[in-house]
Amino acid sequence: MRLRTTVNGEPREADGVWEGASLLTALRDHLDLPGSKNACEQGECGSCSVYLDGELVCACLVLAGQAEGREITTVEGLAGVGELNKVQEAFLAAGAVQCGFCTPGLIVATDDLLKRNPDPDDAEIREALAGNLCRCTGYEKILDAVRMAAS
Ligand code: FES
Ligand code: FES
Repeated sequence: MRLRTTVNGEPREADGVWEGASLLTALRDHLDLPGSKNACEQGECGSCSVYLDGELVCACLVLAGQAEGREITTVEGLAGVGELNKVQEAFLAAGAVQCGFCTPGLIVATDDLLKRNPDPDDAEIREALAGNLCRCTGYEKILDAVRMAAS
């Protein structure tokens, strides 16, 4: 099928997308946006987090066809080309990146949290990021990064 969406503010089209493909597959394999990671493909880890019409979703749980005509923002679209946003800067500064596989999803989820709640306490941070798993278990540094981005 042909998929037409707006991704990171740009109209995008992809041909040959399988009807059963996920939005994550469409982004990574058809739209050259590998930032969103495929770690579980079951909605369990949050590594594929993107915005769909401004709502945080797991791209592995959304059919590509459901994104037709809608607006998607991926981790690549959070800052300008060659720039980092404050959340990305904070993850770097706090040393919250180990293998980095969970990082794009955590950054999108943190961006979403801080839009909704610019001054979250630790319990609110932990709750907001509960769906994002880090297999390197660097959670303390991740919390530091979120606190830093909020400040
Ligand atoms: S790859 Fe989508 S939640 Fe894990
Ligand atoms: S930094 Fe490796 S999974 Fe989180």
